[in-house]
Amino acid sequence: MTAVRKIAVLGAGNIGGTLAQRLAESGIADEVVLIDIIEGLPQGKALDIQESAPILGFATRVRGSTSLDDLAGADLVVETAGLARKPGMSRSDLLAKNAEILRAHALAVKARCPGSIVQVVTNPVDVMTYWFREVSGQPPARVFGESGTLDTARFRWFVADALHVAPRDVTGFVLGTHGDTMVPVLSLTSVSGVPLRQLLGAEALAAIVTRTQKGGGEIVDLLKMGSAYYAPTAAQAELCGAVARDEKRLLGVTAHLGGEYGLRDLCLGVPVVLGRGGVERILEVPLSDEERRAFEASAAAVRADLQALAQMPRAA
Ligand code: LAC
Repeated sequence: MTAVRKIAVLGAGNIGGTLAQRLAESGIADEVVLIDIIEGLPQGKALDIQESAPILGFATRVRGSTSLDDLAGADLVVETAGLARKPGMSRSDLLAKNAEILRAHALAVKARCPGSIVQVVTNPVDVMTYWFREVSGQPPARVFGESGTLDTARFRWFVADALHVAPRDVTGFVLGTHGDTMVPVLSLTSVSGVPLRQLLGAEALAAIVTRTQKGGGEIVDLLKMGSAYYAPTAAQAELCGAVARDEKRLLGVTAHLGGEYGLRDLCLGVPVVLGRGGVERILEVPLSDEERRAFEASAAAVRADLQALAQMPRAA
C-alpha cells in the first residue's frame, strides 16, 4: 500500500534526480513526477529510474515533464529548483535569482495543487521557505523547509565517527538557520540517551560544531562543481516519508514561526512534529543561554536576508 498518490519534484538536477530515485525506491507514492524546464532532462532521468524497477522491485510510476501543469493532483511537492552554490558563494548570493524561479512555482502550486504539502529545499532555504509560503498563500503548516535534518545528520555522523559508535544511536538537533550561524544543540544531543558532554571533551566538541556549521561548504569545496546531494536527499526523503505516512516524527525543519521562541514572521530551523498535516506542532525546547544567543543571532541573519525580498514582486 502506498501512502500518497502523487509526489511532484520540481527541478531535475542532482538533488531532484536523486530524490526522485529515493522516493521511487521507497514506494511511498503511486507516482513520482520530476519537473524541469530543460527539455529531455526530467524525462531522461525519470525513464532511467523507471527502468530500474524490474531489478529493484518497486511499483512506483516515475514520469518526467517540462510542464508545471503536471503539479495537478500532487499530495506532496518538493521544491529543489534553482541555482546551487559554486565555490566561494554563500547561500545568500543565490537569493534573488532563486526567488524569481520559486515565485512561478509557488503560483503554480496555488493554482494546481492548493491542498498539497510543500517541502522547500532551494537555498537560502530559510528565506525561500518564507517566500514560497507568502507567494503561494498556503497555511504556514503546509510549507516547510529542509535543513535541520541534513545539518543534524552531518553533526550525528561527526559525533559517531569521533566516538566509534553506530551513527543511528546519535540523536540531537541542529537548529536556527541553514548557514554558518546554525546552532548544533549540544545540550540536546546524546548517544542512546548518554549526554554528549559526558563522552567528548570541550575541544573535540567545538571542532565538531565548527565542521557541522561549514558542512555544506566542505562538500562544495571538494566537488568544485555543484553542492551535496546524497545526504540532502536522504534527509528530504525522510521528511517526505514522515508526511506521507503521517508518522508524527519529531525532526528539525525550517518552519514558519508565529511567536514560538519569541519570534514571528520568519522561517527558522526548529523541532517540529511532522505528519500528514505538515508541521503539526512546533516544540519550544529549552536552550542554554549560549545556545539561545546563537539561535537569536541565527534569526537576525535570516531577517537580514528577508529584507532583500521586500522589493521583489509577488504576483506573476
Ligand atoms: C548543503 C547545501 C545543499 O548544505 O545547502 O549541502
